[in-house]
Amino acid sequence: MDILALHLSPNQGGTSDVMLDCFAQGVEKAGAKMLRFSVAGRQVEPCRGCGSCNSSGQCVIKDDLAEFYPTLAGARNIVVATSLYFYDVPAKGKALIDRSQALWARRYVLNLKEALKPDGRGFLLALGATRGKNLFIPVGLSIRYFFDALGLPKTFDTLFLPGLEKPGDLTQRPDLVDSLREAGQAFGRQVAEGRAERA
Ligand SMILES: Cc1cc2nc3c(=O)[nH]c(=O)nc-3n(C[C@H](O)[C@H](O)[C@H](O)COP(=O)(O)O)c2cc1C
Repeated sequence: MDILALHLSPNQGGTSDVMLDCFAQGVEKAGAKMLRFSVAGRQVEPCRGCGSCNSSGQCVIKDDLAEFYPTLAGARNIVVATSLYFYDVPAKGKALIDRSQALWARRYVLNLKEALKPDGRGFLLALGATRGKNLFIPVGLSIRYFFDALGLPKTFDTLFLPGLEKPGDLTQRPDLVDSLREAGQAFGRQVAEGRAERA
């Protein structure tokens, strides 16, 4: 796996799922391999704030996220694809973000330096139905600190698509579909080049 894609909407086959499909086509064209993990259809419980991870670096909750932690912790390049629900990541996706507290604790409480990925890359793909000028500010901040918890740099690429209420609003816009494919291809190329440099 070169890239881990996290789909943070609960809606399988919804607009943000289709958005990630388009981006994935570009990634594939660039010759990079992407693994997708969606919260849709999975059991992802919210963080309980119990603090256990501060001493163990592990989350006590046993759900579909439990076995995914090693993949999340090990990913060097991460794409987040999300719709906006009340200006931010939908609750189920936010649960995944909050649960990364266990990884944050490993870095900032337990000082496990191996969790750092300074040469990692992040990408945020986000869409919403409306068009206000502040629409993508909250999600940008949420993902900035999510990437930090994962040991990635706090700067990352973004593609924000306003005015998309349903999948058809995206599929009927070839210009947006092309932008997503091009962004995926560029990101996939950067990641593939980084892989070649490290080899
Ligand atoms: C509970 C809920 C809250 C929403 N809040 C916002 C919002 O704050 N801003 C916005 O632009 N769109 C908002 N929307 C619209 C969705 O972002 C939009 O319909 C999107 O295409 C849904 O994508 P999805 O099916 O992949 O989740 C909201 C939709 C829902 C269901």
